[in-house]
Amino acid sequence: MTRPTPRRPRRSASPPSPMKATEPRLAETRVYPTKNDLPEASRRQAIMLLNQRLADCIDLQSQCKQAHWNVKGPTFIALHKLFDEINEAVEEYVDLIAERIVQLGGIAEGTVGAVEGRSTLVDYPLTLSTGAEHVAALSDALAAFGRTVRIGIEEMNELEDAGSADILTEISRGVDKWLWFVEAHQQAQA
Ligand SMILES: [Fe+2]
Repeated sequence: MTRPTPRRPRRSASPPSPMKATEPRLAETRVYPTKNDLPEASRRQAIMLLNQRLADCIDLQSQCKQAHWNVKGPTFIALHKLFDEINEAVEEYVDLIAERIVQLGGIAEGTVGAVEGRSTLVDYPLTLSTGAEHVAALSDALAAFGRTVRIGIEEMNELEDAGSADILTEISRGVDKWLWFVEAHQQAQA
């Protein structure tokens, strides 16, 4: 099967929106037969949309590790540990989305190549060092992912796929919490 998703140029650090106007879409979605009684058309649509959220989620996880490895300064140990804690939670979200795709009869497309061609998140800058810089960048990423997940909940509700909507709702709750944990570092009054 030829890969239908086109490779695209690396994203700039300051796009107008975390969502691109036209997200890359799968030209065809292979669906395995299953006794799951959700209509095949709904499953096919859910698989395609969930693969897009999967790409965002895998991208977010890599950004958490990037922050975990590279943060420096007086807040190093707190942020180093926090970013790894978020990474572990996001890894679970990746698994939830990927396995939901497979439960629906789809193929979870989680390779680096697929993610690079599909993630709607902005690339994480490679040269950040201070805690404040990483807090700003990772909170941007968490907020952008949180937005795409909220959109995903609506999409799954429209498809009447309550299970996928529930999974994305769980993830949304978690991401909102992690955004709070990170943003709290910026919110202290001087
Ligand atoms: Fe580590």
